[in-house]
Amino acid sequence: MAPIDTSKKSIVWVLGGPGSGKGTQCDKIVAKYGFTHLSTGDLLRAEVKSGSERAKCLTAIMERGELVPNEIVLDLLKEAILARAEESKGFLIDGYPREKSQGIAFEENIAPVSVIIYFEASSETLTQRLLGRAASSGRADDNEETIKLRLKTFLDNNDLVLAQYPDKLRRINAERPVDEIFAEVQSILDPLVA
Ligand code: AP5
Repeated sequence: MAPIDTSKKSIVWVLGGPGSGKGTQCDKIVAKYGFTHLSTGDLLRAEVKSGSERAKCLTAIMERGELVPNEIVLDLLKEAILARAEESKGFLIDGYPREKSQGIAFEENIAPVSVIIYFEASSETLTQRLLGRAASSGRADDNEETIKLRLKTFLDNNDLVLAQYPDKLRRINAERPVDEIFAEVQSILDPLVA
């Protein structure tokens, strides 16, 4: 694969627990900066819908709140990045990496990350938000049992993921109104696109 020239196209990893607001903030980032938004959760759900061979095991794993094998996630990401590499102004990679090894594999196979935005919120807040969304999301993993498992998976891995990137990591308190959080996001991204 042709490497992405990150001096021209930034690669931003958008991380945070389940329900921390990654998708909400990515929508706002896309509207302001025109970046390409790739959510690994969305890519996986699209793959499940397509009924492909590699999708067969995915539903059960996601309903257990566990991580899908990285070969599958990284393949999907690579394909999506490659398909948009020419026209993209920069990439928002939402929900990846979720394990230390995923971060290493991404940088080895795709490109170095430019900056990492991490949305920080308590487990109580995350749970309340996801339960609030459950009625309308139609997502099989937005139920009390799976939310607990998603949180556990997140908590088991998160510190190790973040510890790998002390210089590129930007932590944002995500327990505030959406627009206040976005103001801080802009203070991180504005210098990147200047
Ligand atoms: P994924 O789809 O990525 O789910 P997630 O990480 O659990 O996060 P969500 O999409 O549910 O939440 P979000 O942070 O985007 O929050 P949102 O903006 O929607 O992953 C699903 C599954 O796929 C995983 O469990 C795993 O199995 C698999 N998977 C994905 N990536 C993988 C990977 N890299 N490797 C292996 N497996 C992988 O907001 C949530 C709610 O809160 C909304 O109702 C919103 O309106 C509200 N809200 C947002 N911001 C605020 C705010 N500031 N104040 C109040 N409410 C707010």
